Amino acid sequence: MKNILVTGGAGFIGSHLVRLLVNKYPKYHIVNMDVLTYAGNLENLKDIQDKVNYTFVKCDICDLEKVKQVFKDYQIDSVIHLAAESHVDRSIKDPFSFAQTNIMGTLSLLQAAKFEWQGDFKDKLFYHVSTDEVYGSLGEDGYFLETTAYDPHSPYSASKASSDHFVRAFHDTYGFPTVISNCSNNYGSFQFPEKLIPLFINNICLNKPLPVYGKGENVRDWLFVNDHARAIDVIFHKGRLGETYNIGGFNEWKNIDLIKVMIKTVDRLLGREEGVSEKLITYVTDRAGHDVRYAIDSTKLKNELGWEPSLQFEEGIEKTVKWYLENKDWMENITSGDYQKYYKEMYNVN
Ligand code: NAD
Ligand code: TYD
Repeated sequence: MKNILVTGGAGFIGSHLVRLLVNKYPKYHIVNMDVLTYAGNLENLKDIQDKVNYTFVKCDICDLEKVKQVFKDYQIDSVIHLAAESHVDRSIKDPFSFAQTNIMGTLSLLQAAKFEWQGDFKDKLFYHVSTDEVYGSLGEDGYFLETTAYDPHSPYSASKASSDHFVRAFHDTYGFPTVISNCSNNYGSFQFPEKLIPLFINNICLNKPLPVYGKGENVRDWLFVNDHARAIDVIFHKGRLGETYNIGGFNEWKNIDLIKVMIKTVDRLLGREEGVSEKLITYVTDRAGHDVRYAIDSTKLKNELGWEPSLQFEEGIEKTVKWYLENKDWMENITSGDYQKYYKEMYNVN
């Protein structure tokens, strides 16, 4: 029996993780703490919301007293921390809220856990979910290893790097039971359409321009979100305290090549002439400080804990495109209202 606090469980990765844990471990109680920002959506968890081993608590991770109360109410013995501001472009416009949520929010959770666990760390765990973006940007060669020095460039990655440092500081200073994972870019269902893949799938469907930053030559390393959730499950149960694990599937794509795959897939599934939507590609001003290449080496996770991705990219992207085409209501619900304002401001359209 475990009482696991998952933060940010109503977001993209969090909802996949919550679903996995609730279904796979009927004896665990999963408490999903989420303040429901624009990125949090309880629709993502409709299929498990009535399960007896699941509870949703609306709470800001920065609210230390309320977080402590949740620890008491549910006798929390483990934390898997995903709640964050997660979009690089938003961090460029508003770095303050990223520092607040990602740094102060993480610190508030660490403090609450340390206070409530009262120095008895037996069978306790604070698992911090982070990103490969803390390592900075690669040239043409090489990979991020767990030992790669931190070199964040965006306000988002700087705030995540800072939160990672706080988690390590708690381990080193207080003997606090922590583990950290740093994952590459995720894709799959329920991703908010501010990120490249859902945004472009939606725009291709609607015949809207596809705003490619710079020359489209930046490289990202893509992992299917369910495989990230599986990796978190493995690390949560078998990871060594104080350790860091990189998560990735050795699956690098130049943005423009990935975009062409999405175009072909959407066109084919919609019965359009394959590739006809390439005319929507529109090169726009590059993102400020745009990291050139991310590539993660997850050999440690494979060798130590036996995790490997379950899906090839071709299969994953096909599944993902199909899901967005079959779940138009989900997309329409979140792209009406505030999203329109965001989109106009971010992409300078009227
Ligand atoms: P997301 O933006 O889809 O979801 C974030 C969730 O956190 C939302 O449900 C939001 O409501 C919640 N939240 C935000 N501020 C909060 C606060 N103050 N209190 C409580 N809840 C709050 O993000 P995601 O893409 O699912 O990412 C989840 C985590 O994984 C983040 O920590 C992110 O840095 C990390 N990560 C993401 C990726 C990726 O490709 N998306 C890759 C590696 C790591
Ligand atoms: P994104 O999904 O925002 O993830 P991240 O910046 O965290 O890697 O972007 C993925 C890549 O796609 C990144 O190189 C920026 C690029 N991109 C565009 O070219 N146009 C867009 O509209 C967006 C959102 C991203």
